[in-house]
Amino acid sequence: MSDLITPDPLPIVRSVPALRTQIAHWRSMGARIALVPTMGALHAGHLSLIAAARGNADRVVASLFVNPAQFGPHEDLDRYPRTEAADAAALTDAECDLLFAPAVAEMYPAGFATSIRVGGLADRLCGAARPGHFDGVATVVTKLLLQATPDVALFGEKDWQQLTIIRRLVRDLDLPVEIVGGAIVRDADGLALSSRNIYLSTDERRRALALPQALNAAREGILIGMPVSVAIEAASAALDSAGFAKIDYVELAGAEDLAPLVTLDRPARLLAAAWMGTTRLIDNLAVEP
Ligand code: PAJ
Repeated sequence: MSDLITPDPLPIVRSVPALRTQIAHWRSMGARIALVPTMGALHAGHLSLIAAARGNADRVVASLFVNPAQFGPHEDLDRYPRTEAADAAALTDAECDLLFAPAVAEMYPAGFATSIRVGGLADRLCGAARPGHFDGVATVVTKLLLQATPDVALFGEKDWQQLTIIRRLVRDLDLPVEIVGGAIVRDADGLALSSRNIYLSTDERRRALALPQALNAAREGILIGMPVSVAIEAASAALDSAGFAKIDYVELAGAEDLAPLVTLDRPARLLAAAWMGTTRLIDNLAVEP
């Protein structure tokens, strides 16, 4: 009969004081608390982080905030999918304990003037293509970490540069939180799950598969000794012929410092960002010497 038992709906708080009251209560009982920040439109990638959080803590808090500060003036803030009811249902099924879903005014009250900037790391790769994006991410993530004061916070390797920046800011600012990365969750054919995949037409979705395929082929090439520049050139050409309209970058970078690598002399990440129609897709994979 256990399949007939429906879990209690997930409690949702929208203010920082309400969040703090709940967290303080759990902490007074000795609970270890995990935070999984999201912008909603949840898919199996997000839910894998909730599952990992469950295995790592006694209480799991998810946040849902479509953060205006990380969208550029001509980006997709207005059309970004907003599906809070479905997200809350998915989080209930995933046995999340609390959803923090603040309004914009709760996060950025009138007169908000502070920004967290992780120099260097935030300027390359996606940072070069999206000026200010990672300042918006670093600022909101710092706020979320200070608001929820979790023992552990989980972020996906899908956004490798974001994860690297968050690890650095936590180290630099001595924030008392452990950062845990989660492996990239992919569709059966290999395309990384993303809230933005819903923008793709059927034809674009089919052609988008060239992104993970090109990265895999480049990794194979590098591992059998092909010069990095040649492997990257081939990956760019493959994206081009698959119909990607614009390639922001295909690059091999040091896994921790994101410095560009011309030879595979240390643990690295092969990263790419490219536009399929009006949708910007990113992907990356590990390349170990
Ligand atoms: P969002 O794109 O909603 O992603 C929330 C978290 O889910 C991030 O840590 C992201 O890396 C992870 N994630 C997304 N797709 C994934 C996949 N296919 N496999 C594994 N993990 C995946 O990233 C953000 O939101 C925002 O920048 C945020 C950190 C919430 C700050 O606003």
